[in-house]
Amino acid sequence: MASNGVYPNSIVSSLPKRFIKLRNCLRFLFSAPSSNYSFKLQQKPRKASMSTNSIAQEYVAASMDSFRTSIPQSHGSLLSGLDDVMTGYMFGKKKATEVAHSIWKNVVRKGDVVVDATCGNGFDTLAMLKLIGDRTHKGRVYAMDLQKNALESTSSLLDQSVSPDERGLVELYALCHTKMEEIVPQGDSVRLVAFNLGYLPGGDKRIKTQSETTRLALEAAAKLLAPGGLISLVVYVGHSGGR
Ligand SMILES: C[S@@+](CC[C@H](N)C(=O)[O-])C[C@H]1O[C@@H](n2cnc3c(N)ncnc32)[C@H](O)[C@@H]1O
Repeated sequence: MASNGVYPNSIVSSLPKRFIKLRNCLRFLFSAPSSNYSFKLQQKPRKASMSTNSIAQEYVAASMDSFRTSIPQSHGSLLSGLDDVMTGYMFGKKKATEVAHSIWKNVVRKGDVVVDATCGNGFDTLAMLKLIGDRTHKGRVYAMDLQKNALESTSSLLDQSVSPDERGLVELYALCHTKMEEIVPQGDSVRLVAFNLGYLPGGDKRIKTQSETTRLALEAAAKLLAPGGLISLVVYVGHSGGR
């Protein structure tokens, strides 16, 4: 996916090399195609030393300023409430997925249709369900994974965590995400499509997302997306399947 560069490379280039090496282990890319922009957040060292901590703090502040000024005013609310979770993430106290979930909260509304393109153990599916579920039962989470054990794991997490009524709002599919258009009913416009790339935690590390199928799935996601919708990617740069 093309990014129009709304991320703080100027800040990155001013950081010491050692810092950049440590930083470069995890990335996000969020895109709201209706307004044709995307942005990417990159993690700071998990174990920053005293000297790098101050650099990391400056980085967080500068990154947030850079995002704020780059994002169209109409979408400024995307970043609302993000400072704390971003700072926690930079210092290893929050997970990458928690940053993603915080952004989703600013986009997804009760009753929305959303897609989890890589449901894995179901933590993202559950977070999505909490955002869309209400008494009207109009919302839906379409969640998929290539692996049967991933779907079982997601199903079991949902059964333990939500009421049968809420559970009924999630549809699970054993499917490659390139085929996501086959499961979302025509006419449903999707508010969020989320990807969490890589392999199933606790599963077979050889079965992982691949860049070519991810690219095709992103194209499919863009077709399904409602105006103002969001494609969210948590990307691990530590191995090829996570990119
Ligand atoms: C990092 S895990 C996802 C974690 C998950 N979102 C969670 O909350 O636990 C990545 C998942 O993508 C799945 N996957 C890999 N290639 C896929 C594909 N082409 N289509 C759908 N899922 C795929 C893997 O089986 C794995 O379960």
